[in-house]
Amino acid sequence: MKELNVALIGCGFMGKAHSNAWRSVRLFYPNAAAYPRLKVICGAPGEDVQRYADIYGWEEASQDWQATVARDDIDIIDIVTPGKLHAPIAIAAAQTGKAVSCEKPLANTMEEAESMADAVEKAGVVNLCSFNYRRVPAVALAKQLIEEGFLGRVFHWRAQYLQDWIVDPSFPLVWRLQKSEAGSGALGDIGAHIVDLSHYLCGRVTELTAHMETFIHERPLLAEVTGGLSAEAGSGMGTVDVDDAALWLAKFDNGAIGTFEATRFAPGGLNKNRWEINGEHGSIRFNLERLTELEVFSRKDPEHIQGWKTIQVSQSVQPYVAAYWPPGHHIGWEHTFINSVHDLMEAVVNGTEMRPTFRDGLYVQKVLGAVEASNDSRQWEKVL
Ligand SMILES: NC(=O)c1ccc[n+]([C@@H]2O[C@H](COP(=O)([O-])OP(=O)(O)OC[C@H]3O[C@@H](n4cnc5c(N)ncnc54)[C@H](O)[C@@H]3O)[C@@H](O)[C@H]2O)c1
Repeated sequence: MKELNVALIGCGFMGKAHSNAWRSVRLFYPNAAAYPRLKVICGAPGEDVQRYADIYGWEEASQDWQATVARDDIDIIDIVTPGKLHAPIAIAAAQTGKAVSCEKPLANTMEEAESMADAVEKAGVVNLCSFNYRRVPAVALAKQLIEEGFLGRVFHWRAQYLQDWIVDPSFPLVWRLQKSEAGSGALGDIGAHIVDLSHYLCGRVTELTAHMETFIHERPLLAEVTGGLSAEAGSGMGTVDVDDAALWLAKFDNGAIGTFEATRFAPGGLNKNRWEINGEHGSIRFNLERLTELEVFSRKDPEHIQGWKTIQVSQSVQPYVAAYWPPGHHIGWEHTFINSVHDLMEAVVNGTEMRPTFRDGLYVQKVLGAVEASNDSRQWEKVL
């Protein structure tokens, strides 16, 4: 079994989720091609990175991402910073020949995403855009069913990603509410996930018409900005220059039509990433808040017993499940990251296919760009 040295750039929410994945992967996949060595974690200048290294289990701490990326004893760079830093870190990592994983959305703009996809392809390095929901076992099972013909011709894609964590107007101006840091608001943060899922499960969007809304235009500034939490600090109010909600109607290349909704203003929507696909033979639906369940409806069932069926996705014959517990001993959200780092290491060592790639991330960015263009033009826009 090969040892791969990993450097993680970012110590926040995703820093913790990815650290857990790197730490746990060997336990659940003992026969994998490689196991990771948690070599170095890197945070923002002024951040107490040593504390994160101690808690998350990394050998070393750094506050200098350039120096970290330049090290010749690192095999994989894992980027979990705000969007503004994705492109410079990923391009530098590719240029040193390292495998790169980057959190979603791939970048803040289409141009940045394009340079990133070009850089990893030019360098010939393994690359992953971390749309982790492809690696929920129930979602991977949906993909398998679709490939087996469960739906037949697809008519509808219907997706909503609903959260509610910024409804309170006193919630501060964090980086996710600043265009210079995050690129966009609900659109890139959570809308990007349902675009990637539609790409994975349904097809490519060719054109769309959209509306975006910002409900609260000013929010209290943070007193301090250590750890890359915001672009500006102070005692007054600052401007929110991203969307709070985005909705769009889309046409797919396979003739299906779809709706997408992403909002952080839906009280009761905690992490309600839900979608439904309707095809000629039946329907499939999923809700991340009940992530071990997949609901299916088959028109091929005898008519007198037709109805929605809920599959408990915890059988070892279902995707990814065999790595974990016996049937009915359910896994959670964090396991999507464990599955991702496992697959990434397999790709690095054995050359297995790794999706979604940066090119897939660029496709998502193009859809996000078309949503913004349509919101501005009030017209249908093509996804080029
Ligand atoms: N896949 C998912 O489900 C998911 C969920 C949440 C966030 N994300 C993505 O993960 C990324 C990070 O989000 P988060 O929620 O962890 O943010 P966060 O605010 O919790 O953490 C950001 C971290 O970035 C690091 N950072 C900032 N400036 C830096 C610099 N100059 N050098 C090195 N490190 C620096 C800091 O360590 C900081 O703690 C974003 O791209 C976000 O969209 C993905």
